[in-house]
Amino acid sequence: MKARKIKDRIYWMGAVDWDSRLFDSLIPLPDGTSYNAYLIEGSEKTALLDSVDPPMASELLAQLEGVPEIDYIISHHAEQDHSGTIPQILEKYPNAKLISTPKAKGMLIDLLQIPEDSFLTVEDGESLSLGDKTLRFIHTPWVHWPETMVTYLEEDRILFSCDFLGSHIATTDLYVTDEGRVYEAAKRYFAEIMMPFRNVIKKNLEKLTSYKIDMIAPSHGAIYPRPSFIIDAYHDWILGPPRNTVVLPYVSMHGSTKQMVDYFVSALVEKGVRVEQFNLAVTDIGKLAMALVDAATIVVGTPTVLAGPHPYAANSAFLANALRPKVKFLSIIGSYGWGGKTVETLAGMIPNLKVELLEPVLCKGAPSEEDFKALSDLAATVAKKHKEHGFT
Ligand code: FEO
Repeated sequence: MKARKIKDRIYWMGAVDWDSRLFDSLIPLPDGTSYNAYLIEGSEKTALLDSVDPPMASELLAQLEGVPEIDYIISHHAEQDHSGTIPQILEKYPNAKLISTPKAKGMLIDLLQIPEDSFLTVEDGESLSLGDKTLRFIHTPWVHWPETMVTYLEEDRILFSCDFLGSHIATTDLYVTDEGRVYEAAKRYFAEIMMPFRNVIKKNLEKLTSYKIDMIAPSHGAIYPRPSFIIDAYHDWILGPPRNTVVLPYVSMHGSTKQMVDYFVSALVEKGVRVEQFNLAVTDIGKLAMALVDAATIVVGTPTVLAGPHPYAANSAFLANALRPKVKFLSIIGSYGWGGKTVETLAGMIPNLKVELLEPVLCKGAPSEEDFKALSDLAATVAKKHKEHGFT
């Protein structure tokens, strides 16, 4: 795609990646993604903000064909999907200075072997004049690496946010047109990489309140012409109370655990509790991560295999522990054949979660009437706890 004009002497550049289905060899990308760079031409100097993932370098280099000089390359984030083509840009524009946070400088040298004398580091709040356009750099650490920053273009009131506030969507829309679709993609991205750092991200959002922002231009997904849409969504994900929802990742081998899951879901629904159920044998872990953003309770359903939880269930516990959602309660249900340490193993895998463990329900073989009664009791306990906390 060719470069696209956003405003006078401000252009979108980069690449739309329609085919990518997995990011970092981990994160499902059902809608592909984009790697956005931006070119800003001031009356005296020209800056390129970020680059693209190296496999798409040729697209950015083609867009730069008619650009005679770049004075500054702004690197908001050292991860290679934004920084990986910087060495080729520096080769094309050897006089350009690479602007980054001090922490990013070290990381860019480590990751890309960029020579130290290419760098100009900027402190939090420092500005850089391009003549009639001014870039203000705002350090926003831990989005989702420690070195991240964003750039505010003062005269045009545009915030260039890189990963922060972005969404993984391949689209020909320069601007967000379908907020519902973007909400889901942005929430998926927040859940998968930013949720564990929400206390720092909250501070980053607070920093932005002193800037009048007309537009947010991220480095993944379309530009937000209505910034309050995505900022309000982040506020909700970070600060909103958990909802009256149980997330139920489960796996079943011969049907007994599935019977328990079905009964338990029905009991929860009867008691007014919402359930998001994920069969771990087939689920998209991005959907599971999204559900964890708002849930008050996790209940893991697993058979006992080789004396412990099924590996898929262990994987979901590991994921929840790493993502540190704001859940308050956790329990385990499932079937076993002759014994094992499923509860102890799973409970030991979630040290990061500040949760109350509700009495697990494990049954021997297929669930009996007594086991169903225990599941009803667990559903009642969950409903009561949610009500006591005022979760809606
Ligand atoms: Fe889009 Fe953290 O890279």
